[in-house]
Amino acid sequence: MIKVGLLGAGRIGNVHAKSIAANADSQLVAVSDVNQAAAEKLAAGYGAQARSSLDIIHDPSIDAVLIATSTDTHAGLIEAAAAAGKAVLCEKPVDLSLERALACQAAVAKTGKPVMIGFNRRFDPNFAAVKRALEAGEIGKGELLSITSFDPAPPPVSYIQVSGGLFRDMAIHDFDMACWIFGGAPVEVSAVGTSIVDPAIGEAGDVDTAVITLRWADGRIAVIKNSRRAVYGYDQRLELLGSTGLLQAGNVLENTVNKVTTAGATSAKPEYFFLERYMRAYEAEWRAFIDAVKAGTGYPVTLQDGVNALAVAEAATLSCKTGQTVRLKDGRPVVG
Ligand SMILES: NC(=O)c1ccc[n+]([C@@H]2O[C@H](COP(=O)([O-])OP(=O)(O)OC[C@H]3O[C@@H](n4cnc5c(N)ncnc54)[C@H](O)[C@@H]3O)[C@@H](O)[C@H]2O)c1
Repeated sequence: MIKVGLLGAGRIGNVHAKSIAANADSQLVAVSDVNQAAAEKLAAGYGAQARSSLDIIHDPSIDAVLIATSTDTHAGLIEAAAAAGKAVLCEKPVDLSLERALACQAAVAKTGKPVMIGFNRRFDPNFAAVKRALEAGEIGKGELLSITSFDPAPPPVSYIQVSGGLFRDMAIHDFDMACWIFGGAPVEVSAVGTSIVDPAIGEAGDVDTAVITLRWADGRIAVIKNSRRAVYGYDQRLELLGSTGLLQAGNVLENTVNKVTTAGATSAKPEYFFLERYMRAYEAEWRAFIDAVKAGTGYPVTLQDGVNALAVAEAATLSCKTGQTVRLKDGRPVVG
């Protein structure tokens, strides 16, 4: 049984607690949060203890740590947990800044401990099936990837202000998806963005609607469309055109009922948001982490993957601000 400490008892911490408890090989033994009441409430629901993050990290009886705290704390907690010899799964993104993420990666390398980053969408059964079909050669070579990723409603501006912006906070999932599907990282990033959904988001220095184009060195292209508002629910689709065919992964709907009458044909809406749509993916992500810990093998999503996606996010942020295409050279954004 792998004993687990969960750092962060917020929205996603509550989701992960369920996955930890649902896995027969892991047990949630401790929860931390700077909001003590939140830690105590979550811990009580699973028969775990509320403790401080450092207390959990330095407890030799705890095998693994899941970091689900606010983004600006990730790098420091990853470093501390890896140095303490823990198995680590940390939520995306690695940090708000690429430089800090690279420093974290260097510090972790010295410990020799691998770290897994929580790009849960790789574990969505539909997207995973696309990846498998591509790898099996079923559509030849993937050439043009289109990702649609719309949230149902924008978060409060207080969240926007600490999130690192749409590219680091939201599109980062899509950057990882593109890097995972195509392999490696793009060499060129262009982004346009606007705050058409809520002007207050623009006043906070962020965008709520964006289109990003990524180009790989061999000419493959990925186009990502993001919006913070799709009134009908969480719109998460992917289309991959290959040299001998096309793969499409559609939305997961609230139910499978189609109604056809003389007025027309209708189906249910997409599931509302990430808690509904990706519940199976979070469980599968945790299963993959625990299986790797037990087997002593590498993780399916690495710290390098987290750094790559963050480099693309910084490049997109820069491109959106300057109106120029940004190149990625040696993993760092370069304008011009
Ligand atoms: N993979 C996904 O689908 C997904 C979804 C949502 C959030 N996230 C990521 O998860 C992280 C948390 O997001 P959230 O939506 O749960 O936010 P949240 O604000 O609901 O929860 C974060 C919690 O961390 C606590 N916290 C902050 N600093 C801490 C520290 N030093 N030690 C212990 N606790 C601390 C806060 O008090 C809060 O309860 C973010 O990095 C976010 O990007 C990922």
